Amino acid sequence: MAAISAAAVLIVAATNSYWRTKTMSTLETKRLTLRPFKESDAADVYEYLKEPAVNCFASMKLHSLEEAAEEVKRRSAETEYYFAIVLKDEDKVIGEIEAYPEQDDPGKGDSAPMDTFSPCWMLNGRYQGKGYAFEAAYAFFDYLFSEKGARRIYAYTEDNNFSSQHLCEKLGMRKEGEFKEFISFVNNPDGTPLYENTWQYAILKKEWEAK
Ligand SMILES: CC(C)(COP(=O)(O)OP(=O)(O)OC[C@H]1O[C@@H](n2cnc3c(N)ncnc32)[C@H](O)[C@@H]1OP(=O)(O)O)[C@@H](O)C(=O)NCCC(=O)NCCS
Repeated sequence: MAAISAAAVLIVAATNSYWRTKTMSTLETKRLTLRPFKESDAADVYEYLKEPAVNCFASMKLHSLEEAAEEVKRRSAETEYYFAIVLKDEDKVIGEIEAYPEQDDPGKGDSAPMDTFSPCWMLNGRYQGKGYAFEAAYAFFDYLFSEKGARRIYAYTEDNNFSSQHLCEKLGMRKEGEFKEFISFVNNPDGTPLYENTWQYAILKKEWEAK
């Protein structure tokens, strides 16, 4: 009789055409594995973080391969909410996705449920336009809603970031509103803060399940 490891595969979920399987800290989709970072990922992460594509990730810029090695070592301890997006066939890290539990109302103190999440997503430019971001984000949202107690997932995206807005919309998120000159990540050439207009998108668990 073939031995099947019951511990190896805990869940198999069919969600439209984007199925995923989940092991202890790994999500699998058709083409991708979402898994915690490993020290051997440093060169792949440096490839896309030596020049962060958008201002909101400016502070994540890595200046050397050594800095990348430190960064992935730090990240490798994160096993629940911070995933490398990996091409299954090549074990190549092509990006990342993360979101941590937040209180729905910080004013309630410790009694507030940690049921709100705000994801960050980023792909190496060489791998954009191939549907990988959607495939990864779909599996990640499904994981947050079904495994991690998410009630609401919201995302901020700058008004000139059309790829990210498009991804939010494909995921079924509602455009909730625009915050004018909401935040500054970088300075103007004259040293003054460059304030960006930011859209907020969101989706509730019941909306996700009704899709
Ligand atoms: C935001 C970001 C993750 C989106 O990535 P992306 O590759 O554009 O998104 P998707 O995975 O949805 O793929 C987009 C296109 O790939 C195309 N595609 C090609 N092959 C495909 C396939 N096999 N399956 C599905 N789609 C495919 C699709 O046509 C899709 O476009 P469409 O939805 O208009 O049909 C990416 O632009 C990025 O990393 N940007 C820099 C970081 C950033 O801005 N982060 C967000 C800050 S707010």
